[in-house]
Amino acid sequence: MAAVRFLPFISILIFLTLPTLCFSLSDEDILITLKKSFTQGDLNSWIPGSSPCLKKWVGVMCSGETIIGLHLTGLRLSGSVDVQALLQLRGLRTISLVRNSFTGPIPEFNKLGTLRAVYLSNNQFSGEIPNNYFTSMGSLKKVWLNENKFTGNIPDSLMQLPHLVEIHLEGNQFSGTIPSLKYPNVVTSLNLTHNNLKGEIPESFSKFKASIFEGNVGLCGKPLEIDCDKVNQSEASNPSGENQGSDSNAKVAIAITTLVVLLFFVIASIISARRRRDDDFSILSREPLREEVLQVQVPESTRRKPAESSRRSSSDSKRGSSQQANKNGMLELVMVNDDKGAFGLQDLMKAAAEVLGNGGLGSAYKAVMANGLAVVVKRMRELNKLGKDGFDVEMRRFGKLRHPNILTPLAYHFRREEKLIVSEYMPKGSLLYVLHGDRGIIHADLNWPTRLKIIQGIAHGLSFIHTEFATYEVPHGNLKSSNVLLTENYDPLLSDYAFQPLINASNAAQGLFAYKSPEYLQHQQVSPKSDVYCLGLVILEIMTGKFPSQYLSNGKGGIDIVQWVQTSISENQVEELIDPEIANDTGSVNQMRQLLQIGAACTESNPDQRLDMKEAINRIQEVN
Ligand SMILES: *[C@@H]1O[C@H](CO)[C@@H](O)[C@H](O)[C@H]1NC(C)=O
Ligand SMILES: *[C@@H]1O[C@H](CO)[C@@H](O)[C@H](O)[C@H]1NC(C)=O
Repeated sequence: MAAVRFLPFISILIFLTLPTLCFSLSDEDILITLKKSFTQGDLNSWIPGSSPCLKKWVGVMCSGETIIGLHLTGLRLSGSVDVQALLQLRGLRTISLVRNSFTGPIPEFNKLGTLRAVYLSNNQFSGEIPNNYFTSMGSLKKVWLNENKFTGNIPDSLMQLPHLVEIHLEGNQFSGTIPSLKYPNVVTSLNLTHNNLKGEIPESFSKFKASIFEGNVGLCGKPLEIDCDKVNQSEASNPSGENQGSDSNAKVAIAITTLVVLLFFVIASIISARRRRDDDFSILSREPLREEVLQVQVPESTRRKPAESSRRSSSDSKRGSSQQANKNGMLELVMVNDDKGAFGLQDLMKAAAEVLGNGGLGSAYKAVMANGLAVVVKRMRELNKLGKDGFDVEMRRFGKLRHPNILTPLAYHFRREEKLIVSEYMPKGSLLYVLHGDRGIIHADLNWPTRLKIIQGIAHGLSFIHTEFATYEVPHGNLKSSNVLLTENYDPLLSDYAFQPLINASNAAQGLFAYKSPEYLQHQQVSPKSDVYCLGLVILEIMTGKFPSQYLSNGKGGIDIVQWVQTSISENQVEELIDPEIANDTGSVNQMRQLLQIGAACTESNPDQRLDMKEAINRIQEVN
């Protein structure tokens, strides 16, 4: 009885509060509403009464207190997605639902017109995607729909997006012909394998590798070596009455294709296991969501050593510990900088590590030690020019460097066959990652003032290195965006500098980026101006937001930004170069123009016409 009597009152109350709720929902309420639309999932940290950003709710990416991304990966989520609630997260730029159990049609994310990235990989989404679905999503850069059960045609509107960099549709049941791609030069990563696509591949895809079309039996035309005319002829000469024959032919064809593909992967994995030196691109193309655990390989003798070693190395971090290591034949970590406290190899070995990626000189791992300090351990196989003592001298010299834009190593570990260099971990990662690798995290913070600060900080650090290592043939020698780390406040820190004395000439040419400068490629010469070239490239990369093809040893992928910038400047089309993400900052266009000009002057292929480091730095500091 009582319940019945209260009912009208309650519904009036709901009716009255509803409009205000719609306009003033807190981020917390929005996410709780979203959580309710899921039928299950591991979102235990999403508790009403706590703040998503401050309390670090799982999967919630924040910039300050603004939610910029939902990275709900592998949380066993299913049910529906309350897009209406998400509409109220004004700062939201990225949604990832990768590796969950969602089913049914694609959610209406197209109502969220400001999204930059949508990752729906490895779910059970199905059905057709409306042809104009993507029309309202002009800011999209990354679309990952792979490993679902989508059917129907690939939407035309997807292929028309102006800023699309990554398109992954592999492992679905998309059928029909492939719509033409409107901006093929922007796209750096594309995969259409294992669908039911057929017909002639549009001209706009001809620059891509044939392998991105594998597993679609009916496709023909460039870049495949299947002539569409021949396909049409054989279809014509094969009357439809003989279905059985063509069916089993198709099966044989599929079997053969599968075999070839399998063989290809076996060979490819053997080759890639042998190839130690990976491009920076592999950092980006690495499966972003798989975390591997690394066992740092240390000989038995060290492993059995009791934990006292770490204590000892902590107090006498000077000469003592390395001599100790020599005497006992033990391998130890030598501290060269104990600003962050001392630690030993034992502490590192106890830490769970995560692979960060491969760079020109080796691989990098992140390790969080018991005391909470997070470090990056770089395994360098190429730094083997000097013996133990010479290496020690160089590392101690690095350890003494102090500059706000320089990453000073903390410790090293020397073995003949490889060296480990340990530095503090920077949570924002590298500039390369922040600019291009934003799987699930879009750095909405990367606005113009921040980019200018990064460029000026790099120049500042480089100026220090050119003073400190002035006698070197090329003082930094390895400047590129993956060797610029960013602090919490986006202050840049240069790393992997001044390696020239540590590395043999042949390894230097392979591993150090200054050796990719035009003067080295043409005349096998490097000079301090090679650092200027690398600086110019980083400036242009920051200004355009594009991945430079110069970072790839095979030149395939990315954009030749040096060429592009020279052309646009000569055609007086400078504005088209500016990254769309900062282009709306119209008050700063003048500064952007100045920096594009400086970047172009730094990347002149003739070193005589290139700025020298002093001029470059002065001009960068004067931008106003
Ligand atoms: C495309 O995706 C498939 C499935 O994940 C993968 O095996 C293949 O290597 C990818 N191909 C290219 C060219 O990226
Ligand atoms: C092959 O036939 C299809 C229709 O059957 C047609 O659309 C296509 O243009 C033909 N291709 C060539 C290269 O003649």
